[in-house]
Amino acid sequence: MTGTSSVELACRYGSPLYVYDLALVRESCTNLRAVLPPGSRLYYSLKANPHPTIVACLLDLGCHLEVSSAGEVDVACAAGASPDRVLFTGPGKTRSAIEHALRVGVRRFSVESAGDLDRIATASLAHSTKAECLIRVNRDAPLAGGSLTMTGVSSQFGVDASLLMDRPELFGSRPGADISGFHLYAASNIADPARLAEQLYENAVIAAELSSATGIALREVDLGGGFPAPYAGRGTTLDVAELTGLAERLSSVWSCYDRPPLLSFESGRFLVATSGSLVAGVVDSKTSKGFTYVVLESGVNHLGGMSGLRKLPRPQPSVEVLGGADGLVRGSLVGPLCTPIDCLSSDVELPVVTEGDLIRIPDVGAYGLTASLIAFLGHPAPTEIVIDGADGVISASRLTIARTPVGPEPFRESP
Ligand SMILES: Cc1ncc(COP(=O)(O)O)c(C=O)c1O
Repeated sequence: MTGTSSVELACRYGSPLYVYDLALVRESCTNLRAVLPPGSRLYYSLKANPHPTIVACLLDLGCHLEVSSAGEVDVACAAGASPDRVLFTGPGKTRSAIEHALRVGVRRFSVESAGDLDRIATASLAHSTKAECLIRVNRDAPLAGGSLTMTGVSSQFGVDASLLMDRPELFGSRPGADISGFHLYAASNIADPARLAEQLYENAVIAAELSSATGIALREVDLGGGFPAPYAGRGTTLDVAELTGLAERLSSVWSCYDRPPLLSFESGRFLVATSGSLVAGVVDSKTSKGFTYVVLESGVNHLGGMSGLRKLPRPQPSVEVLGGADGLVRGSLVGPLCTPIDCLSSDVELPVVTEGDLIRIPDVGAYGLTASLIAFLGHPAPTEIVIDGADGVISASRLTIARTPVGPEPFRESP
């Protein structure tokens, strides 16, 4: 997106705003598909960005959807997904979320534990149906090189490979649940393409070994992902050409199979990160004890919320001043919240700006707004604009958080 169009959008809709470009979503999806094995399935992980127009765009491109809550099930349905294109994953599937998914027709689940499998099977039986389950595996050995490693370490994710080997009977098919393969998700954001390809291959080998050792069927293997993307202008963009040869390497694992399993992959950030920018206004620029503080309309309530919780490093965004800046100054880029954790970058070279200037932070289409602390302090959420390349604005909307009365007593308006 050009700087000019950001300014035009801010004039039309006000600021702050997120702008997502569907043309860039399409480009990323086409690039990734080009290196995945022919006939494989690509799940879009809604946690990266559940904006319904983006989800609908990825559905149109043939993606399936990976969801992890009843809310994401609803977003998938509202975006037009037929339930057989939805995979329900995650360690915290409550009974009511499982039932909700079954009610709308979702049948495919990733299973995180023996208890999770029991809950899915019991609920499916009660709905007179059968779920199709992938057992999520926590590999024995850790994996190097991802920004969030979720396997090979003690965690709430998946079933330990050693437990599967020792007690396969806990994870067999039963009335209400058909076990159709494995789900291996090693890590997110693996920057090194060789390492990325290697872990996908290792996941395939582990799935094949587990299947032959336990007798668990292998109709689908979800090899996970880890496809990296920049965040807030930092980090590398994956050159998918570096994954050339991945498909042949993976197919070698199934060379002795009469019917190779369906291979599937998951991606959130690679598909959508580069499509999004945050445009925010400067509220104030001040000096304190020799340091400059640029206060923006948006902080960790709109971007990088998990870093605000100190769960991830600060985004340290690269900042473009729309209209240009008058030089650089050492300082911190902060948001409007009344807490020192509301800091997007600290002690860096910042452009010199004044109240009313607009800045743009690129590459925030994934883990932007909905991964942030949007309810904290009650600032309005940014307007979210979806554009489609040169075709202009497709939609403009704003998330709101509304309090809804619940409970056994009917809600009464006060007189
Ligand atoms: C099981 C699973 N699938 C997919 C994803 C999406 O990861 P990414 O956005 O890095 O592609 C995650 C992220 O944590 C995950 O845990």
